[in-house]
Amino acid sequence: MPDPNGEKSAAASEALKLVKNGMVLGLGTGTTFEVFLDLLSEKVKQGLKISGVPSSERTAVRARERGITILAEPREIDLTVDGADEFDDHLFLIKGGGGALMREKVVAANSRHVCIIVDSSKYNGSGIGRFPVPVEISKFLSRHTMKKIEKLGCRCTLRDDGRFLTDNGNQIADCKFDSVPDPVRLESQIKSIPGVLEVGLFTSINWEVIMGTKSGVKTFRK
Ligand code: 5RP
Repeated sequence: MPDPNGEKSAAASEALKLVKNGMVLGLGTGTTFEVFLDLLSEKVKQGLKISGVPSSERTAVRARERGITILAEPREIDLTVDGADEFDDHLFLIKGGGGALMREKVVAANSRHVCIIVDSSKYNGSGIGRFPVPVEISKFLSRHTMKKIEKLGCRCTLRDDGRFLTDNGNQIADCKFDSVPDPVRLESQIKSIPGVLEVGLFTSINWEVIMGTKSGVKTFRK
């Protein structure tokens, strides 16, 4: 996994300390999460007993390859570990760079504890909005849906010209705003547009963010 300065590994190692024997884990998606998955699978080889609920088909394949038991309907998810594309001091997140935002949000919303792991390039102290907000939309009249989203003040691009499809069979509109002063409001405004299935703004779940740095890790909590 590309991790030129070791920051992803530092964050992943710190998150691994939260994993206890017998836990059901929510399994995120993306390169940072996959660094964590590699470390987790070493522990599994050494005897750690955990099972997982994957947030994407990509993660499900990789987890199975590493001997992790996959559950479809767990009674409870103890801990979810996932990455993010951008975060700020309010711990508002933009997620969905890998297109898994819908399942990622469902998994996180149903977890007792959520830990987001990132390298320092993902931190934007002045407020999220640098990264385009991924929005999962139905293929049906998708360009019309995008026009409605653009009325909220952004430019939308259909990912891979509409060829990119999520695990749910939908498209992704990447929506670039100049700034996102009120992510909570914007999340609900976008979500209320017909044709929108999910928004890559994560504002209301209680998580901690572990950021890898040149000298170790920094943990952000609400
Ligand atoms: C996938 C995601 C990822 O967590 C996010 O894109 C970060 O990925 P990476 O760790 O590869 O930078 O939200 O939908």
